Amino acid sequence: ACITLLAPALVVKGLQCLYPRRRWALAYTGPLYQVKRGSDSTTTTIAPIAAGGIANAATQDTFCAKTTCLISIIYDQSGRGNHLTQAPPGGFKGPAADGYDNLASAIGAPITINGQKVYGVFVAPGTGYRNNAASGTAKGDAAEGMYAVLDGTHYNGKCCFDYGNAETNSRDTGAGHMECIYFGDSTSWGKGAGSGPWIMGDLEDGLFSGSNAKLNSGDPTINYRFITAVVKGESSNQWAIRGGNAVSGSLSTFYSGVRPNGYNPMKKEGAIILGIGGDNSRNAQGTFYEGAMTSGFPTDATEDAVQANILAAKYAVGASQSTLLTTGLAGDSGSISRRATIGNSISFRATSAGYTTQYITHNGSAINIQAVSSSSNPILKQQASWTIRTGLGNDACLSFESQDTAGSYIRRSNMDHIELNANDGTKEFNEDATFCPEDGFNGQGYSIRSWNHPTRYIRHYNNVVYAASNVGLQTFDDAISFHDDVSWRCRGYEPG
Ligand code: AHR
Repeated sequence: ACITLLAPALVVKGLQCLYPRRRWALAYTGPLYQVKRGSDSTTTTIAPIAAGGIANAATQDTFCAKTTCLISIIYDQSGRGNHLTQAPPGGFKGPAADGYDNLASAIGAPITINGQKVYGVFVAPGTGYRNNAASGTAKGDAAEGMYAVLDGTHYNGKCCFDYGNAETNSRDTGAGHMECIYFGDSTSWGKGAGSGPWIMGDLEDGLFSGSNAKLNSGDPTINYRFITAVVKGESSNQWAIRGGNAVSGSLSTFYSGVRPNGYNPMKKEGAIILGIGGDNSRNAQGTFYEGAMTSGFPTDATEDAVQANILAAKYAVGASQSTLLTTGLAGDSGSISRRATIGNSISFRATSAGYTTQYITHNGSAINIQAVSSSSNPILKQQASWTIRTGLGNDACLSFESQDTAGSYIRRSNMDHIELNANDGTKEFNEDATFCPEDGFNGQGYSIRSWNHPTRYIRHYNNVVYAASNVGLQTFDDAISFHDDVSWRCRGYEPG
């Protein structure tokens, strides 16, 4: 396969030959990325399976079994040392300690490359990577090119899911100080045809779909599951946006021409960002699978060769992300043997010592844990009973509909809250109401990961249910007892 995270990742900088993708792939045996696990805060490096091959996902799966794992370093494969790490605060602070952005969950974006499992970088809002001291990247009005393979269905309208060249001080230093691929459906600056999402260029103080600061109808809505995105610029007041389906067909040119007014000459600074805006705006979401930046202006033919190489990698969605469906219910000992299938009932019993009679229960929109037993009031039993649905936001995962309030689902909201809300049919609701159960971190039942914030798991704390992260800063994010508090025994029918 190719460069980048899946196969190796990132940044060819300062090379005159553009996208020497296959040649790197054949040569590269170095580290691809580093993961840090929650159980003991140790790290390990993920390398290719073989020289030039894809990332060894099995190493990650073994190291991260029954705990959380974050992508802590994305290594540069160009030899320039332009690695990406946790983005520091800038114009905006991130949500992690000292104003840093969050690191991505290592398991948020599983796919296959040529039939073999690998992981991408799932950027939830608040997540960001950066290198403010990159070497060899384009500066000023110098030419550069970049491409990325992204999930065309994972986006939002917030600022800014970017990959590319940005300010070295993490602040907005003015028009022309950035040149990045942007992907999403923001209409705060420019936009393309249809309702989005679009590939645009983030040139600072604006997302551009062409030379017009607002609508350029040649830039189409593009939402294939896997997309190839290209942005490139050269010194003679020229730049271009290209894109296509990363699984079939060729790249199209969505814009090629002069810069928007006020963007010639460019004033690029040469930092590298992933998942955030130049000033550390960090409310966007998206998924990055691979990418590279070059110095020099790639020809269309070079990018077409990159696209051919991407097609040969055969990007595909992976298997179900829910062990709950693939292995059946890890129920209480006793009479329960009913398999977990879509449409069946389920309940969630806490496994933390002292809480093993408590079930996830709703009271109106509030969700907490309450003791439920066979002698409980039938109303309470119903409040603790859920119907398994195909994930509203991603069919590799699940959603849980209330049995006494049809049409309402367990939902993550306000970053770290868990509530029962009526389905309003929006993309945001669907994503918020999607969860991916994994084998329980304490060896019992299941740990239930939020699909769109995959560092967060359904947890009880002081009898209230949260979407908690063991690296978060809230009291309910406390790492002590996290693994027990996020592990739930599941039964195939209402309690009792
Ligand atoms: O250009 C769009 C955004 O505007 C940039 O990413 C950010 O630095 C600024 O807020």
